[in-house]
Amino acid sequence: MNFASTLTFSDIITQNRLLESVVERMDFPKSSWKRPIAEVCQKTVYSEDFALAVLKAFDENQQFPTDLLLQFPLRAILNYLKATHRYYLERKLPEIEQTFFNLIADYNVTHPDLVRISSLFIDYKKELTAHIVEEETTLFPYIEHLMFYAENSNEDKAMYIEVANYSLKQFEESHEDVEKSLSNIRELIYHYAPQDSMVMPFRVFLLQMDFFEKDLNCHGMMEDFVLMPLAIQLEQKIKL
Ligand SMILES: [Fe+2]
Ligand SMILES: [Fe+2]
Repeated sequence: MNFASTLTFSDIITQNRLLESVVERMDFPKSSWKRPIAEVCQKTVYSEDFALAVLKAFDENQQFPTDLLLQFPLRAILNYLKATHRYYLERKLPEIEQTFFNLIADYNVTHPDLVRISSLFIDYKKELTAHIVEEETTLFPYIEHLMFYAENSNEDKAMYIEVANYSLKQFEESHEDVEKSLSNIRELIYHYAPQDSMVMPFRVFLLQMDFFEKDLNCHGMMEDFVLMPLAIQLEQKIKL
């Protein structure tokens, strides 16, 4: 992917359609996609370099840019991860679920097994939603406390106690790889579904899950290899 300073989001999306969802979740208004990214970013919480680094993370032709992403502020990473959670809960999961509901409506009578096996996605949706809620209500507020305390070390001792009673190590140990388990479900659905039941909406359903799986994989790497090391570094600094 070629990134030049006059580059627009439209240019990037033309080169790789899958990146549209990344630009969308970062809330860059569609009306700005044809303007230079540097100019568009000035009005948002993201810098141009950060937006480009995130897009790079989704480029399947390149290695995940861990070192590059580790150079950005924890605040930027956290903002991006929160936007991604919102995007999953409000857009992606309902979209895939809608495809599943269409499958039920059209094929419940003629292909009951297909519908039954596809319903595994609904269980997965619940599991992933719980995982996101857990991160949003425990891990992310904790990291925000760490950032607050780092910036206001003389101000709030109560905050320090809150920081001291929890550790990121605890979270890391209990952080299940729920992002990865979607691929098991997709493979299960694929293998158990008889080939003659491969009706078109079912193919769309599998394809949507496949794209979502790649997105989740990238999200998981962003949490494990970027968010956590940066947060642990800050936590160690504060607890010294
Ligand atoms: Fe997450
Ligand atoms: Fe996670």
